[in-house]
Amino acid sequence: MNSLFFKRMALIVLLGTAPSIFAESVWLSSLNLKEMTTGWSVAKADHEIAGGPLTIHGKRFAHGVGTHATSKFRVALDGNARRFTAEVGVDDSAGNQGSVEFIVSGDGKTLWDSGVLKGGEAAKSVSVYLAGVKTLVLRVTDGGDGEGNDHADWADAGIEMKDGAPPPVALPPYETFRLSTKSFAVTFQVGDDGRLYQRPIGTDDPGAKLLRDDEFYPQAGDGYIWEPALQAVHNDGNSSTALVYDGMTQTNESADIALTRAHLHDPAYPFEVTLCFRTHHDEDVIEEWTEIRHQEPGPVMLERMASTSFLLTTNVYLTHFFGDWAKEMINPITEQITPGTKVLDSKLGVRADQFQNPSFILSLNGRATETNGEVLAGSLAWSGSFQCEFDDNGQGIRALCGINPFASAYHLKPNETFVTPVMIWTWSDQGLGDMSRKLHDWARDFGMRDGHQTRAVLLNNWEATGFDFDFNRIVSLFDPAKEMGVELFLLDDGWFGNKYPRISDNAGLGDWQPNRQRFPKGLAPLAAEAVKRGLRFGIWMEPEMVNPNSVLFHEHPDWVICQPRRELELQRHQLVLDLTRPAAQRFEWNTIKSILAVPGITYAKWDCNRYLTQPGSPYLPPDRQSDLWIDYGQALYALMDKTARTFPDTELMLCSGGGGRVDYGALKYFQEFWPSDNTDPTVRVLMQWDYSYFFPSMAMASHVTHWGNRPMHFACSVAMSARFGMDLDLTKLPAQDKAICAGATSAYKQIRDVTAFGNLYRLEDPHEGYRGALDFVSQDHSRAVLFVFQLNDGQNMAVHPRGLDPARHYTIHELNPAPGRAPVPQEGQTLTGAELMHDGVVPSCAHAVEACVLELDSGSNGSLENK
Ligand code: DGJ
Repeated sequence: MNSLFFKRMALIVLLGTAPSIFAESVWLSSLNLKEMTTGWSVAKADHEIAGGPLTIHGKRFAHGVGTHATSKFRVALDGNARRFTAEVGVDDSAGNQGSVEFIVSGDGKTLWDSGVLKGGEAAKSVSVYLAGVKTLVLRVTDGGDGEGNDHADWADAGIEMKDGAPPPVALPPYETFRLSTKSFAVTFQVGDDGRLYQRPIGTDDPGAKLLRDDEFYPQAGDGYIWEPALQAVHNDGNSSTALVYDGMTQTNESADIALTRAHLHDPAYPFEVTLCFRTHHDEDVIEEWTEIRHQEPGPVMLERMASTSFLLTTNVYLTHFFGDWAKEMINPITEQITPGTKVLDSKLGVRADQFQNPSFILSLNGRATETNGEVLAGSLAWSGSFQCEFDDNGQGIRALCGINPFASAYHLKPNETFVTPVMIWTWSDQGLGDMSRKLHDWARDFGMRDGHQTRAVLLNNWEATGFDFDFNRIVSLFDPAKEMGVELFLLDDGWFGNKYPRISDNAGLGDWQPNRQRFPKGLAPLAAEAVKRGLRFGIWMEPEMVNPNSVLFHEHPDWVICQPRRELELQRHQLVLDLTRPAAQRFEWNTIKSILAVPGITYAKWDCNRYLTQPGSPYLPPDRQSDLWIDYGQALYALMDKTARTFPDTELMLCSGGGGRVDYGALKYFQEFWPSDNTDPTVRVLMQWDYSYFFPSMAMASHVTHWGNRPMHFACSVAMSARFGMDLDLTKLPAQDKAICAGATSAYKQIRDVTAFGNLYRLEDPHEGYRGALDFVSQDHSRAVLFVFQLNDGQNMAVHPRGLDPARHYTIHELNPAPGRAPVPQEGQTLTGAELMHDGVVPSCAHAVEACVLELDSGSNGSLENK
């Protein structure tokens, strides 16, 4: 020990001074030893572990710490220390037994290691420079032969601080941090190996031993044997990564929102990973993503880069949804996760919801119901190929979700940051209903455009005219639309193409000039006709696509996604433009710009009628072909973002040959999505129910059509429970149907603020019984709208609304009652919320394809005097 240090220590001892901010050298024994872990008993100041004097090989020490392997002590130095010194060895109280190893490390790096010391051996001196070290860790291992008799002494141990520096402070043995929202928390802990671990969601045992299996964001190739979150091939060909934790920052973005960034790096490579979590406190929502960066001499190949890798306990039920065109989100499956790996995925490149939505629900500790149970909903904000894996190793379940590793190895250049798609998690310990309401709240604020504006009643011509229309035919639809109360007209596919006119789906995509025969003066006069009648005007477009029968394709056959030596594989007679090619990007942007800049156009439907089956880019070099899937997705989002920013007042509908692309990655640039081409209301009841687990009803476009040939009243009622619109030839509608549609239009306008911004309560699951029922309650509880959809014959039993204010008085009023049917028996009655929720309301429907929509209105304050 150097003499200056010794003198300072002696001075402190002489004056009997406790370490203070003036201390320059501090005995280890003066720190809070309760934070030191021990394999037996508790650490002792200035004594060996059993309470006797500190003695190593016959030499006594007045100062020091007696501990017992396995032991760990963390000390905060904040970069203010100069040196750690001590004499270490097995205390003589162990006789000639015991064997230990002393390790000194700073900020995750080993600074000194004693090697194995045995009982009866002389003390070993340690003197370690600590310049810049923030956290000092002193460890004692069992020397590899078990903990018996491992009485270990840090004798004469002291820390020399910089002049005037504050004293060191003992820290809890493990660094932890938590993500917490109103009713949810996840705890992370740094292990002895410097790696970051996570306490499994669903356990609350902070003392449980950490296993390697519990590593958070585990990496392939360095001892982790289950499904990894990250798999990278470094520039030297090494396919393993080993990340240690560096620290984290937490910043409040608002009173409700905090951003946590946890930093990790691989000590063997200039390779860094930042795990990012944005918590929304009141909504119990966590947005999670990962940022990856390196400074290696050349590209690093990212083969897997999950957005999330949360760990859960076992006994978890997974609900997921599969479908197909016209059957989107209609098949919920709930199954217990069992040992092995369950995979939900898409390999289609551009349409995440084609067969499987990238959203799911995990119910912990058994199946959840609408009102009970712990549930975690996950939704990946990515429209491309995704993979969600639930890897159950019998001890716990890891939920991995992100870009599908399938064919997507990504070349990450030095100094570029790869940002994974955002995973959106929502928690509830009160069942599925509460979970959805919180996610809807988040979505209105952050998941979609204009989540706080009501939507217009829309008339679309697609089901009415198909490709068969011209200027006069379209204009002929405007007056009846206006009379009906429609506010927005949407002109669908078929308005463009000259050399290759778009009169069927086999030509014209790519040639975005209005067809001169149909619209000799372009679209502006048509939009003007609509605007003149008080209608807004919207337009269909499919900017990502091209038909081989187009001028564009003939001029630029190399602009399409295709593979060498393969015959072009067409879907709906079309191909996908290669958005990795800057010229194609510019073309698509110019197309969008020129369409949306037409005066009078304030709405657009962005369609996408095929997915990728031949993933090759004539633009990308041969060794970068696997970047296509990701580069395409990112270029697409850049285009959508630019569109939303350049046309802030133009509403956008996200459509993809029905609901092939419904996810929060794209939805943030759109006001709404088209759930499915299937508008049969008996099917829509199920689909809209399932979409509502994740998406607010105001985001779901629901149009009245003749699909399924259902009664008009039923079709209108179903459409009113989402964003109401019609796709009918109003000029040909029978008078009675016209009256029903007009009644629905006006009723929808009356309640749309409640269905858009209110809280949704799913009351009776249409998948399970003969009917479906749901209600929306305004945020101030003053109004509610109750929907009952009868899918099969059954008794008209009372339906029990939820979410009402028990003390308020609500008057019952049936909206747009079905002609010829008796109104609800309680029409006009005023009951308290408590009575309504307890006794229920008898609807006016009892037979298949009948519906009933009730408004429950309590006036401004719900008191009877106001009635
Ligand atoms: C598919 C969409 O889902 C339909 O609504 C319609 O817009 C057609 N494309 C037009 O081609």
